[in-house]
Amino acid sequence: MENSSPNKSSLHPFRIQTQDMAFDLLPGQNLLDALEQTGHDVSYQCRHGYCGSCRVALLSGRVDYAEPPLAFLHEGEILPCCCRVRSDLVLKCGKKKTSGGSNGQA
Ligand code: FES
Repeated sequence: MENSSPNKSSLHPFRIQTQDMAFDLLPGQNLLDALEQTGHDVSYQCRHGYCGSCRVALLSGRVDYAEPPLAFLHEGEILPCCCRVRSDLVLKCGKKKTSGGSNGQA
């Protein structure tokens, strides 16, 4: 029988739930990269915790930082470019809106 153990946290993917979808964040994968790759509407400039452009609201879950980021954060916000994901997350972040098109499905 398998049990989820806190000690396994760095070895298995974390589940990232956004407003539009859920996906697995692989161990060592950068959260900002993963959000971009899954088509989410995230901004960025520095990708190193300086500018704050990438901030998103964290609705549940836990992250930390290797070094305290320089960008100002309100309570409940995280910087996906430089945070280290420590649990499954729920983010207030949606996918990019495509302008004027369908998904091609008939
Ligand atoms: S992109 Fe600059 S703080 Fe994340």
